[in-house]
Amino acid sequence: MKILVTGGMGYIGSHTCVELLAQGHEVVVLDNLSNAKPSVRQRIERIAERAVEFVQADIRDRAALRAVFAQHRIDAVIHFAGLKVVNESVSQPLAYYDNNVTGSLALFECMAEAGVKRLVFSSSASIYGDAEVVPVREDAPLSALTPYGRSKLMVEDMLRDLGRSDPAWSVALLRYFNPAGAHESGLIGEEPGGVPNNLLPYIAQVAHGQLACLNVYGGDYATPDGTGVRDYIHVVDLALGHVATLEHLAKAATPPGVRAYNLGTGRGNSVLEMVRAFEQASGRPVPYRIVARRDGDIVTSYADTTLAERELGWKAERGIAQMCADAWRWQHTPKE
Ligand code: NAD
Ligand code: WQD
Repeated sequence: MKILVTGGMGYIGSHTCVELLAQGHEVVVLDNLSNAKPSVRQRIERIAERAVEFVQADIRDRAALRAVFAQHRIDAVIHFAGLKVVNESVSQPLAYYDNNVTGSLALFECMAEAGVKRLVFSSSASIYGDAEVVPVREDAPLSALTPYGRSKLMVEDMLRDLGRSDPAWSVALLRYFNPAGAHESGLIGEEPGGVPNNLLPYIAQVAHGQLACLNVYGGDYATPDGTGVRDYIHVVDLALGHVATLEHLAKAATPPGVRAYNLGTGRGNSVLEMVRAFEQASGRPVPYRIVARRDGDIVTSYADTTLAERELGWKAERGIAQMCADAWRWQHTPKE
């Protein structure tokens, strides 16, 4: 298949391009490089030993999108492009609604015009809000707590409406839990600008000596060791989940409509378990101190992955030891 990957130069997108190419698919990346470096393209090509078509453009630019659909016979779109920093979305809500909602709308309109109705959308477990029941199933109530989460929920709603209006659409809403780690080559990974917000990049910088100490947000939660519990999924497993999803959509005899799937491991790990796993993988100490809870944090979140296993034939295989080892290797990679 020839796949248009929006945001394909970013963290999850770049790993997904590698796995798509490894499975023999062709890839056209459209990315405005607002949160990625141009050199990611060469790194993807180096790992995959194949070429990647790249268009530097914004998903809100309908003319650029139309040109891509006119130039290439696209079989399906994987839509990663968007802004993703939760606390930034609180201070800049309009930027988030514009990029994530208006941008998605422009993309879906251009797909409809071009007759391309097969889509994989990057959704997020943040749309479960503070789920009452864990592991979280796809039919849990949806309620986002931030503009970022609401932007994802709005796009999901838009796609559910679109699917109801036209049964020719095949759409998978992939709700990622906590993506972490990097490619085992050490060539691609997550590159947060400034001080990282997410746990694993922060721990990696502490182990590396760039940051002095991890602030653990809350030590008195109702969890086994008092710290927050999340479902950390290796980014390569996540990438393979996208390939499995596309293949599932493509082989369906009739379009399967709009379906949501959790992509997680089904296991939860605490902040302190992640600290210990990273210390082991790196052989370096990770000093930490317990501080006040972070506003808006939930206690425990991990996925029920039954649906993805059953319908997509996909299951995460990598654990936190490998995730930390790969994140540590990536931490050492010279970045230009
Ligand atoms: P990322 O920032 O590394 O990648 C996003 C890419 O999209 C970047 O390369 C950026 O340059 C590009 N982009 C942003 N806005 C664009 C626009 N308007 N037009 C064209 N390109 C644009 O983020 P990521 O971690 O790879 O996340 C990918 C997707 O997965 C996002 O939609 C994100 O919301 C979602 N997601 C991420 C996580 C996570 O923890 N990383 C969790 C759940 C969902
Ligand atoms: C994980 C755990 C923190 C940093 C966010 C988004 C979510 C998704 C993934 C996009 C929590 C603790 C963290 C630190 C800490 N992104 N922590 N010290 O909050 O589960 O999810 O990223 O879709 O939408 O909300 O991830 O990595 O920030 O935190 O103690 O310096 O680590 O309290 O328990 P989170 P996270």
